[in-house]
Amino acid sequence: MSKLFPSHDKGEVVAAVSDLNLTIEEGKLVTLLGPSGCGKTTILRMLAGFETPTSGSIRLDDTDVTRRPVNSRGIGMVFQSYALFPHMSVRENVAYGLSVAGVAKADAGRRVDEVMELMQIGHYAKRAPNQLSGGQQQRVALARAVVTEPRVLLFDEPLSNLDAQLREQMRVDLRAIQQRLGITSLYVTHDQSEALAIADEIVVLKDGVIQQRGSAREVYRSPASSFVARFLGKANIVPGTVVASTAAGIVVDVDGQRARMTSDDLPQVAAGESVSCVLRPENVAFRTDPEGALTVEQVVFQGSYIEYHLRIAGAACTIIDHEYAHRGTLNIGDRLSIDLTNTPLWIVPADA
Ligand SMILES: Nc1ncnc2c1ncn2[C@@H]1O[C@H](COP(=O)(O)OP(=O)(O)O)[C@@H](O)[C@H]1O
Ligand SMILES: [Mg+2]
Repeated sequence: MSKLFPSHDKGEVVAAVSDLNLTIEEGKLVTLLGPSGCGKTTILRMLAGFETPTSGSIRLDDTDVTRRPVNSRGIGMVFQSYALFPHMSVRENVAYGLSVAGVAKADAGRRVDEVMELMQIGHYAKRAPNQLSGGQQQRVALARAVVTEPRVLLFDEPLSNLDAQLREQMRVDLRAIQQRLGITSLYVTHDQSEALAIADEIVVLKDGVIQQRGSAREVYRSPASSFVARFLGKANIVPGTVVASTAAGIVVDVDGQRARMTSDDLPQVAAGESVSCVLRPENVAFRTDPEGALTVEQVVFQGSYIEYHLRIAGAACTIIDHEYAHRGTLNIGDRLSIDLTNTPLWIVPADA
């Protein structure tokens, strides 16, 4: 499906979403990952029924729901802003969807109790939303969304307003609850570590167009482009020259060293060809070497590891050391050498 918006400046249109074709398997959690403005919220709003696609359709099982109103789609939504009703208690917030749906009081009461227990918010039942922390409010919002047993749950950056530590805890809890209830979910985030941590599958989006989809491991290890490589974790993109290309692998010369790409699906490249290579910082082996060809340009302390910024084959790169407590640290200006013999290398198409 596609969504065009009129543009205010030039009387033209903005393609917020272009020819999106996405199927989500029942019970799975798919994350939609991309930078701000790439169309994530627009996609969720179309699925929920707050926007109508300019073209295309939305199906739930075999039913076309494209023209159905918001409240009869069986879709629940959780927002970054929680969007709780401020004048209602926690319990009333959670019960709201059931009373709108006309579920009998006794039955509704039992379901609200169950969900509040699952979400561990039972002891706040009588409080107003503004008497809760951000994390507690988000639990209430999730309880309110799941109590009506929607077929699909949509999450729009639900943890962005929480501090880092709570965010990491909440994503583990949220994933556990989604798996326990088996609710098919589409989870939007611009946070790559969140996407990697919770997803059955990741869909990477740029300018309203899907760049790649796959498991977290696939997308991280085998990025389809330098954009995907850079968006998922830290990626060094360095120039290399193909030395040999066979079905067993491609050997590439990077800065005078030999590195190898292996895959069931190797790109078609010939010896002598220039290529762009992805080297993940954690995979580059290095040692202090006064005669080394590389020079530390910047040192960034990260607690559990240290980052060294330097240049490999002229490209700005980062390598990281988790063992610095034993090995000691390097300083700006220190020389080192790298060893790419066992570094997994991945070739991506040159940037257009
Ligand atoms: N109601 C609207 N009217 C005009 N342009 C819009 C509207 N909603 C979103 N857009 C534009 O569509 C693009 C995608 O926006 P959005 O879906 O909010 O991105 P994201 O959620 O990934 O940050 C942006 O260029 C945005 O400015
Ligand atoms: Mg958004």
